[in-house]
Amino acid sequence: MPRAWITAFLRTPLHLNKVIARSSCSLIPGEPTAPCLKTEIPGPNSKRLFKEMNCIQQAGTVQFFANYDKSLGNYIVDADENVILDLYMQIATMPLGYNHPAMLEVFCDKHNLHALVNRPALGVYPSEDWPRKLRDVLLNVSPRLPHVTTMMCGACSNENAFKQCFMAYRNRERCPPGSFTEEEKTSCMTNCPPGSPDLTILSFQNAFHGRTLATLSATHSKAIHKLDMVAFKWPMARFPQYCYPLDEFKCKNSEEDEKCLAQVEDILCQYKKGNRPVAGIIIEPIQSEGGNNEASPCFFQKLQKLAKQYGAGLIIDEVQTGCGASGKMWCHEHFNLECPPDIVTFAKKMQISGYFHTEEMTAKETYRIFNTWMGDPGKVLLLEAILKVIQKDNLLCLVQKTGQKLKCGLLELEREFCFLLDSTRGIGTLLAVNCTTPQLRDEVLKCLKQKGIQCGGSGTRSIRLRPALILQEQHADIFLDRFRSVLQCIK
Ligand SMILES: Cc1ncc(COP(=O)(O)O)c(C=O)c1O
Repeated sequence: MPRAWITAFLRTPLHLNKVIARSSCSLIPGEPTAPCLKTEIPGPNSKRLFKEMNCIQQAGTVQFFANYDKSLGNYIVDADENVILDLYMQIATMPLGYNHPAMLEVFCDKHNLHALVNRPALGVYPSEDWPRKLRDVLLNVSPRLPHVTTMMCGACSNENAFKQCFMAYRNRERCPPGSFTEEEKTSCMTNCPPGSPDLTILSFQNAFHGRTLATLSATHSKAIHKLDMVAFKWPMARFPQYCYPLDEFKCKNSEEDEKCLAQVEDILCQYKKGNRPVAGIIIEPIQSEGGNNEASPCFFQKLQKLAKQYGAGLIIDEVQTGCGASGKMWCHEHFNLECPPDIVTFAKKMQISGYFHTEEMTAKETYRIFNTWMGDPGKVLLLEAILKVIQKDNLLCLVQKTGQKLKCGLLELEREFCFLLDSTRGIGTLLAVNCTTPQLRDEVLKCLKQKGIQCGGSGTRSIRLRPALILQEQHADIFLDRFRSVLQCIK
């Protein structure tokens, strides 16, 4: 057994080690075989810690405090020793679950430890091996785009993607490209045109692209995120709202696609006429925070054509859907687009944030796309280990298999409890099901947690699954069984 596995085993609570011997089919040695609850959640320790934290920092969003030494694989252990099957994984960010041996191993290497301790200002003093890491790790999984720029978080990747679209749009108008007039240089200093032009970004109803100021103007999932914030007056189009099951409503759903696309075209046309042209269109392959809403490959193909026709950059926000959770490395790869999008942003499961982009979406002048850290080499080391495990353990196939099992199970529950559930949907393990009311959804999530299952909410009445890529059929069975018993109690 490798050293890190042994360490993980020894750190596992005694009562869990007893079941290790039986969990031979788990991908993670020592992973518990089932949730195990000692208190209600949050338990007394979590409640005490909550009070302690809340006097220092607003802690209203905290569900429970975790013990990350003891958490392992698909299971998170809380401060009260409750062992919880985690199908939400830190808001969709943990590709290999907790304490994966391959990730622990990364920082046993002294060279890697130096990269962690000496965090560089990557735009100015990158390490000697940084170009190789960009090429061999990040570009190795690029969705057919030749460049990558690393950033600090999902929102800041989207924010900089907007800037790339603005610069590319203005550059196309300049003659010669890249030449700034004196008027532009002075007017931008007082936020006025032509230096600060009136360009816009088109986004979609229910979208979530982050909480920084510019991304908030493209975010439309919940009012509480936006209230009191100054916003750009940018256009928003409807995102398709489908009827389920998809097979039964093909005609109606394709009419819905056409209606939404007609609105997009109308906006592109009107904003151009009104001298506020759309320089970029940002869209999630599956809207995650806003309700796990999906749109068809045909919708995305036509959207790409419209973007090209009107000179707008197409930004696909893969912050939540990327890195394998759809069963392909990138969710938009399910759409068979004619050519790659102009920009694909990433964060979460990738550990490092940033965006892949075309040559046109590359800044030509220095310091236009820049910040102090511009990412974190330590996170790329983790990503390198993650990508090796994805390949070695064939995790994209596993996601498809487990996703299918989960989706069939949810559909079965939907048939059994048709007065409580509807609209099971999603690709891979990016799945969701609706409850009939928001109150019921909240109640189901609460009851699931008391049965040792962590899921997420999404939109107004959806239950969202965002498990790790190492979720297997036996975990799906546990979830579905407990979900059924919650529904039986509620019924
Ligand atoms: C689709 C999408 N884009 C952007 C973001 C923002 O990412 P971050 O929280 O890393 O800023 C999120 C976060 O949930 C997201 O789901």
